[in-house]
Amino acid sequence: MSGPGKSDRLLVKVEALHKSYGDLQVLKNVNVEVPRGRSVVVIGPSGSGKSTLLRCLNLLEPIDSGIITFDGQDTAPLRKAAHALRREIGMVFQNFELFQHLSAIENIILAPMKVLGMSEEEARARARKLLEKVHIPEKADVFPDELSGGQQQRVAIARALAMSPKLMLYDEPTSALDPEMIKEVLDVMLELSQEGMTSVVVTHEMGFARRAAHHIVFMDGGEVVEDAATEQFFTGAVHPRTQRFLQQILR
Ligand SMILES: Nc1ncnc2c1ncn2[C@@H]1O[C@H](COP(=O)(O)OP(=O)(O)OP(=O)(O)O)[C@@H](O)[C@H]1O
Ligand SMILES: [Mg+2]
Repeated sequence: MSGPGKSDRLLVKVEALHKSYGDLQVLKNVNVEVPRGRSVVVIGPSGSGKSTLLRCLNLLEPIDSGIITFDGQDTAPLRKAAHALRREIGMVFQNFELFQHLSAIENIILAPMKVLGMSEEEARARARKLLEKVHIPEKADVFPDELSGGQQQRVAIARALAMSPKLMLYDEPTSALDPEMIKEVLDVMLELSQEGMTSVVVTHEMGFARRAAHHIVFMDGGEVVEDAATEQFFTGAVHPRTQRFLQQILR
């Protein structure tokens, strides 16, 4: 029934996803596809369910109904061993969430050593490459409180990449940053996307969305109101609710 899957065009497929917190329906019949090697940007007003969707993708939240397929496999039977799947998915949050008592490089080598059993030597060599990739090789031994927000977020990205994830999830990765640091983080994300890293990005940065996204999903009130290829989204007919939202954020 499940087929080989590996050659499937889609890395993630969400079908008819429903999720409630008590009486509050937070996701209503959500359908989203993430092709391998592509970035999908999710936008929408506060409370529309964007973060909840990411947490469901990461198996951090139980779902009420629907199917989430990851890398050709239905994730429902995997939920009991969710940590195995979660290590294939990197997650980057608004507030970085680095370990404050560890240096940049120690943040990056921790999971590969503990979870993957990598030797410290190999983990450090890979971490140095990742710090180069996020353009702060000189910050390896610096602690988070001596890094700017933009640098901390790039360490967080490197830390996620250290597990060689198949998918990266970003939840408003630049919204806690001062304006002058936003670009350095988006540039790294754009480079990763251009290298073929599959990702789902919740962001209000429409310039980034336009350059990096394969398609754009607009959510409102727990529903996917619009899901269109990026150029079509920005130039073509969009739903009145989408237009209203875009007018607000593009002000
Ligand atoms: N753990 C929870 N328990 C109860 N309600 C929750 C929980 N998490 C989220 N919600 C509610 O679910 C709805 C969707 O929240 P979610 O965080 O997914 O929205 P969002 O689109 O990410 O919003 P924002 O742009 O503000 O981050 C909101 O009404 C929120 O209050
Ligand atoms: Mg959110």
